[in-house]
Amino acid sequence: MGWLAWERFRCNTDCKNDPENCISERLFRSMADLLVNEGYASLGYEYINVDDCWLEKERNAFGQLVPDRQRFPRGMKSLSDYVHSKGLKFGIYQDFGNYTCAGYPGILGYLETDANTFADWSVDFVKLDGCYSHPLEMDSGYPEFGYYLNLTGRPMLYACSWPVYQIYAGMQPNFSSIVTHCNMWRNFDDIQDSWASVESIMDYYGNNQDGIVPNAGPGHWNDPDMLIIGNFGLSYEQSKTQMAIWAILAAPLLMSVDLRTIRPEYKAILQNKKIIGVDQDPLGIQGRRIYKHKGIEIWSRPITPLYQNYFSYAVAFVNRRTDGTPSDVAVTLKELGYFSYAVAFVNRRTDGTPSDVAVTLKELGLASPTGYRVEDLYEDVDYGVLSPQTKIKVKVNPSGVVILRADVQADYNRRVPFYTTQR
Ligand code: DGJ
Repeated sequence: MGWLAWERFRCNTDCKNDPENCISERLFRSMADLLVNEGYASLGYEYINVDDCWLEKERNAFGQLVPDRQRFPRGMKSLSDYVHSKGLKFGIYQDFGNYTCAGYPGILGYLETDANTFADWSVDFVKLDGCYSHPLEMDSGYPEFGYYLNLTGRPMLYACSWPVYQIYAGMQPNFSSIVTHCNMWRNFDDIQDSWASVESIMDYYGNNQDGIVPNAGPGHWNDPDMLIIGNFGLSYEQSKTQMAIWAILAAPLLMSVDLRTIRPEYKAILQNKKIIGVDQDPLGIQGRRIYKHKGIEIWSRPITPLYQNYFSYAVAFVNRRTDGTPSDVAVTLKELGYFSYAVAFVNRRTDGTPSDVAVTLKELGLASPTGYRVEDLYEDVDYGVLSPQTKIKVKVNPSGVVILRADVQADYNRRVPFYTTQR
């Protein structure tokens, strides 16, 4: 979680005419201040990330990268130190090619040098873009840069654009390698400041979820790109939808917004603790779109049961057969009823009135006979403990969302239909 310059501030290098908004140390320092002073940092937003357009056009005589002298007069180590002095982490951008997308020096030929430079600058996060490169070479090049990052001995989160450029080139990315070598990766187009862009990302992740969802887990995440909440393109409802769906997708939450001018209602969305809790759920299971019909979508993500803090389970598998051979049993934790869920109802209709959606928990796949305590994560609505047969009704605004959390109950009086003992 953190803040990333690109979507909102782009490649604005005009510090003469636009000193407040150009890509410069001033911008990153003030965003670091605000991350802390406005309460984002205490909710988990910890990275301050530079994107494209921070470099001089030439490397120095030693082949090292040089930050733009006018815009970063004190250099990157000084900016990194400043970010660290706030208790935050510092991210930087490079490109696996001859140039970055905006035409600054890329990494080809300098993988080891740049990894060492970033470590010297105490960088904590490296985004490696993929312009001006050959997608075929990424299968060896991205792991090679990861190798040099590791060789520095400094832990740096490694964010890759490897799959998205290969997909653009018509290739099938090797996700088992990507999952091994990258901490997060982009699968799809750059987000733009519009609802159409957010919708296209939701559609991509929903339509391709069978290939995408299994790749996510602690330490390795799909990245549907930045949160654009608080900018110009999304309404209040649409902003709530982006936050909710990004949480269901177990997405990295990198805000790209002007924290100096964000309106309070958008800040509240970005600071919604309950939704951040879903996003950051320690099981790290990415959710899925489980229903899509006539403009209504339902998205669901398994999350850690609250009571897991108090109880673990021993599960015994007993074979009562007498046919002489061992029996294989395969079961998911979900089938054992061990998950709580976040469920988001999205209304993609544009007919101007809120839509009612009514569905039983069982139809949502929430079948534990012990029931679920259900609450709304935006509105202060507590539905109480509901059985799987209970019909739940929600009203979803056009291009809006209702997101619920359903916490599976540990009901000691009712035997769950498998053999467990509480320790
Ligand atoms: C393409 C990336 O996908 C964007 O996120 C951004 O980093 C730009 N390149 C910068 O040029």
